[in-house]
Amino acid sequence: MRAKWALVTGAGKRLGLEAARALARRGYDILAHVNGSTEGASALRDELAPAGRRVHVIQADLSTAAGQEALVVQTKTCTSTLDAIVHNAGIFERVPFAEIDRARYDRMQAINCEAPFFITQGLLGELRAAETSCVVHVTDIAAERPLSAYAHYSVSKASLLMLTRALAVELAPAVRVNAVAPGTVMFPEDFDEATRTRFLARIPLGREGSASDVAAAVAYLVCDAPFVTGQVIAVDGGRSVAL
Ligand SMILES: NC(=O)c1ccc[n+]([C@@H]2O[C@H](COP(=O)([O-])OP(=O)(O)OC[C@H]3O[C@@H](n4cnc5c(N)ncnc54)[C@H](OP(=O)(O)O)[C@@H]3O)[C@@H](O)[C@H]2O)c1
Repeated sequence: MRAKWALVTGAGKRLGLEAARALARRGYDILAHVNGSTEGASALRDELAPAGRRVHVIQADLSTAAGQEALVVQTKTCTSTLDAIVHNAGIFERVPFAEIDRARYDRMQAINCEAPFFITQGLLGELRAAETSCVVHVTDIAAERPLSAYAHYSVSKASLLMLTRALAVELAPAVRVNAVAPGTVMFPEDFDEATRTRFLARIPLGREGSASDVAAAVAYLVCDAPFVTGQVIAVDGGRSVAL
């Protein structure tokens, strides 16, 4: 049987690492993209080797067109068929609207939206070469319900949400395209205790989510949802319906 390959961006830590692990458990070999977290992806390779799963680590800075193209080129050298892409890499930063200069805005769009756009485009031949394939975008509930002082972030995730729907229509029936929209899943490392308490108070299920909560939704969309495309699954403990 042909090996199944999944490309996961930002696979060296946190949500991306857990999504890669979940897909490996479901029988996928992994193209683990990292920018700086090479150690996490290498550890994943060692962890999965005894089970016979292959992990190729690909380094690329997705903030530039050259970095996005490099990821496409390196992926093509690893495989001619691609069964899934999980676009997880992203940046998140709190900046009041008046202080978002063009460099910050452009970087946010490049990593959070342009990278998924042009990487999927660059790998379309490999996706279509697989019998069935899919793309999963990791968006955010803030794509539809903005957070104050995150305008450039919210715009980038809203663009990614529309890309999900646009590609679901255009790439069907060969390629399914869906999204997972986390709420507060793993707090950014720089959130202080007061901010964490404030966020938790708004989550009906009463807890911060976990990387495995998101990974389970990714695995569902990749492995168990052959008749689902153009959809967004919120993994947010109910926060988006309680607003
Ligand atoms: N955590 C949450 O509660 C939450 C909520 C809503 C949405 N999300 C979304 O879920 C995704 C993962 O979240 P997370 O919390 O795991 O994020 P994170 O800890 O901030 O990690 C960001 C990931 O993006 C990659 N990345 C950052 N800058 C990059 C660049 N210039 N080029 C290539 N890759 C780059 C990082 O790669 P390296 O580590 O290799 O540098 C890392 O894997 C993101 O898209 C985020 O917006 C998360």
